[in-house]
Amino acid sequence: MGNYERTILVTGGAGFIGSHVVRRFVNKFPSYKIVNLDALTYAGNLENLADIQQASNYIFEKGDITHESFINTLFEKYKFDSVIHLAAESHVDRSINDPLSFVKTNVLGTATLLNACRTSWKNNLINKIFYHVSTDEVYGTLGSDGYFTEETCYDPRSPYSASKAASDHLVMAYHHTYHLPVIISNCSNNYGSHHFPEKLIPLMINNIKNNKPLPVYGKGENVRDWLWVEDHVSAIDIIFHRGRQGETYNIGGLNEWRNIDLVKLLVRIMDKKLNRPEGTSEKLITFVADRPGHDLRYAIDPKKLTTELGWKPSVTFQEGLEKTVDWYLANDEWVKHVTSGDYQQYYDQQYKKKT
Ligand code: NAD
Ligand code: TYD
Repeated sequence: MGNYERTILVTGGAGFIGSHVVRRFVNKFPSYKIVNLDALTYAGNLENLADIQQASNYIFEKGDITHESFINTLFEKYKFDSVIHLAAESHVDRSINDPLSFVKTNVLGTATLLNACRTSWKNNLINKIFYHVSTDEVYGTLGSDGYFTEETCYDPRSPYSASKAASDHLVMAYHHTYHLPVIISNCSNNYGSHHFPEKLIPLMINNIKNNKPLPVYGKGENVRDWLWVEDHVSAIDIIFHRGRQGETYNIGGLNEWRNIDLVKLLVRIMDKKLNRPEGTSEKLITFVADRPGHDLRYAIDPKKLTTELGWKPSVTFQEGLEKTVDWYLANDEWVKHVTSGDYQQYYDQQYKKKT
């Protein structure tokens, strides 16, 4: 297939994190051919990749990771030597409303890809890698202290995290049983540009901008550990190239925030950028019914990644949030496109239920 050094299948490349992965790999590694496979669900959007869609080392394939014959045909067509697997149903609230679609995509979809690798690579495992992008939510919830390490036992508590945990277990099972070369990374909450506005940060940015209520679940005391998406992607790059096979790496920037404090910080940043008197948008904060089974706290200990592979985040939270807010304010059309149709229906159902 041409003279490419590697042919990499990236799944879910039209989504939030996937589009940042595809952009980085296409631009930084012209000797790699990048094939982006995405089903273009409500969360997938080719506008995210408009700037690189003409690149000669980039190909888009529309398709579903759960379709076995389609996936096998794709492997025959491209002879991939690597997979970076991000395609997933990714939103906890949606998983509470519709758990089976999470089981289908996240568990069956991952198994289907693993099986295609097993078949396609059975005669030669040299220079092959299946990189599975996962979440810290597989570890469950923390109390007010302690951190998730790579040794923490899995204890998922939402249909989303349980389906991701199951997919992680399948990845390791294929490693131990079939010697498939695999790596898993479990990352904390991401934020940044192109983030679908059903998740906390882009939803709040959009609502602050439009003077809509800011729905904080419960008392806003739940804690998340936030990482700028570009820093997640730089970690994926390093782990993909230098991580040890059969290992798990936790990714996080030691940046814990209670939801209510984060929303107040965002409000302050945005009031300034929108030339509103200080404190204007804080009045929009509205406490709503809590999420069922709401995990109290996530916090990653990234020591293995920082000491073994030398990764560190490139921005402070304030810098990352400013960049993110600037991007949303400058990309009104993108927001308009993704918040029409399905989003509006989801939003009305989700937040009518809670108030
Ligand atoms: P996302 O929902 O923005 O994107 C998911 C992408 O997968 C979309 O483009 C969608 O069209 C595609 N997809 C969904 N079902 C598919 C199917 N059956 N076949 C092919 N494509 C399909 O998700 P994200 O936030 O970018 O997350 C990407 C990955 O990173 C996920 O595996 C998620 O579990 C993991 N992760 C996310 C975070 C986070 O904070 N967002 C943190 C850690 C790990
Ligand atoms: P979210 O962005 O959905 O990520 P996750 O549930 O995977 O951590 O939510 C982040 C936190 O924000 C979580 O504690 C739930 C809370 N939250 C709200 O308070 N209000 C909202 O409207 C949303 C979407 C989330």
